[in-house]
Amino acid sequence: MKHIYLIGFMGCGKSTVSSYLSKNCGYQLIEMDEQIEKEQKMSISEIFAKNGEEYFRGLETALIRNLNGISDKTVVSCGGGVPMRQENVEAMRKNGKIIWLDVSPETVYERVRYSQNRPLLEGNMNVEYITGLLEKRIPKYRAAADEIIRVDGKKPEEIAEEILCIS
Ligand code: S3P
Repeated sequence: MKHIYLIGFMGCGKSTVSSYLSKNCGYQLIEMDEQIEKEQKMSISEIFAKNGEEYFRGLETALIRNLNGISDKTVVSCGGGVPMRQENVEAMRKNGKIIWLDVSPETVYERVRYSQNRPLLEGNMNVEYITGLLEKRIPKYRAAADEIIRVDGKKPEEIAEEILCIS
């Protein structure tokens, strides 16, 4: 069990916490959105606009599969939609621990309200919409997770400490 996969809704802190784990605890870092943007030479918003969501989901699945070939211990900051596909969850399970950063819709809104690179929230940047989308996803996050960490009101370093204790 070498990798740590951080899952959870947009704005739950996956990127910040993974970057902390990588800087301070010797994990190699893979930020899925960043990696996909680099490979496609486009922003996430541009990929959605040009090729559509299904195309993007295919890129995520391909990346998750490829990560299974990495031998160094790695923290993977997953895109918020990754656990929606069962095959992604199975690929992650084979190679590490899946940790869900569970966040409230209010915190999400505070963190992403000015983001220009969250196509799923474009035109719907409000707590009601975020609540609806989050509620649809919670069963999948819960089913995928080996461990759950509530993140509201916690600093990234506290969350990272909790992760180290359970992994
Ligand atoms: C998405 C979350 C985003 C990004 C894309 C779709 C989602 O990643 O992959 O906009 O479906 O929840 P973050 O969770 O890193 O913001």
